[in-house]
Amino acid sequence: MSHLQITTNFDDSRLEADALKYRASIPSIHRFLEEKVGEPTGWLDAPVEMTTDQIDRILNISNEIKRNADVLVVIGVGGSYLGAKAIQEALSPYFKKHENGIEVLYVGYNLSGTYIKQLVESLENREFYLNVISKSGSTMESSIAFRVLRQYTQERYGLKAAQRIIATTDSEKGVLREIAHAQGYRQFDIPKNIGGRYSTLTSVGLLPVAVSGIDILQLLEGAKRAAIELKEMNAEKNTAYLYAIYRNVLHSRGYQVELLASFEPGLRFIHEWWKQLFGESEGKDKKGLFPATVNYSTDLHSLGQYVQDGNPILFETFLHFKDVAEDFSIPYSLLDDDRLNYLSKKSFNEINQIYKKGTILAHSEGGVPIIQIDLKRLDAFHIGYLMYFFMKACAMSAYLLGVDPFDQPGVEAYKKKMTELLVVETTAN
Ligand code: PA5
Repeated sequence: MSHLQITTNFDDSRLEADALKYRASIPSIHRFLEEKVGEPTGWLDAPVEMTTDQIDRILNISNEIKRNADVLVVIGVGGSYLGAKAIQEALSPYFKKHENGIEVLYVGYNLSGTYIKQLVESLENREFYLNVISKSGSTMESSIAFRVLRQYTQERYGLKAAQRIIATTDSEKGVLREIAHAQGYRQFDIPKNIGGRYSTLTSVGLLPVAVSGIDILQLLEGAKRAAIELKEMNAEKNTAYLYAIYRNVLHSRGYQVELLASFEPGLRFIHEWWKQLFGESEGKDKKGLFPATVNYSTDLHSLGQYVQDGNPILFETFLHFKDVAEDFSIPYSLLDDDRLNYLSKKSFNEINQIYKKGTILAHSEGGVPIIQIDLKRLDAFHIGYLMYFFMKACAMSAYLLGVDPFDQPGVEAYKKKMTELLVVETTAN
């Protein structure tokens, strides 16, 4: 049985007819993805092809960082940080520090002077390492954050600074690669055929995640299991393809927004990662669903109103893990002045489940189409599985929509404009 189940509330009489054209395209896209000659599809086999030597190197460097530092500073933006941050938030305790008390901090994903100043200040009196991650090696946000932190590392560690900087970048070219080579930084290669948002399950995500104390072997095991199960061409047996079909059917029926919803706050950055994956892969040529996210029950008290009753432009995808790390029972109260004793045999997670059921019922009655994605347990194995599932679904979905899942001309366009403006502004002053 698959490690991920997918169900919908719109298995209506029109579904077969609406899905027909998408189903018909699946075999040729499937074969195209499988053949992958010269295509940026290295991520499809990356978890399976990762060698023991490669994993050992990640684990050895991660152990060295944990032994010698209080903080790992990860510098990256977009696909070069979101996956690691997502896994770390999903699987770490909410309030405790990470393994051995090490903290993993992220920088280089915004241009806030306040953020970087306070981050540098937070490193005072603490030992740290840097992991700078950039496929192109020249993205503005991460490059200038690296300039700041590289200088700070040199001030702090002098001749030993190079030992504390690890560069994860393109296997063949780029400014970061040149710097790393010239300065003698240790490097992890991002294969040429793996793009930023598809790179989490390579050294890009695995090193920061390993440092934060998460079992990367289990993460890779889950991804490998997904790679095997989702190699199936028949959409009836391939949940990634089913999801791709459902979202395209709903889009063709006029829905413009897909709202990813979960009931566990630790999944907030899984949402962010998903948003980037689908938004950057599909939003082009004036096409594509707008990917948005909500965290329930928090957002039932805000966007919930819109979902239930507002402009019917959206459908919901509920992401749910049956078992989560811990639970807490509602205590019995002798006083019962808050009238809550009727809940005292229930736990928080049980109530959360009932909320989920109630929300799905209410939103269904409100006419909102719903896709449900269910996994057994919120652990490293299932997160690895889920990420692979979403990447494969995204590639299929984008091709079904008729766009290239692997380019990002819109992002390149803004980068070009920003650079032009920066040159004009800095030469003018
Ligand atoms: O998915 C992508 O390709 C982008 O989101 C990139 O990850 C992002 O722009 C960062 O690029 P780089 O890793 O080259 O610094």
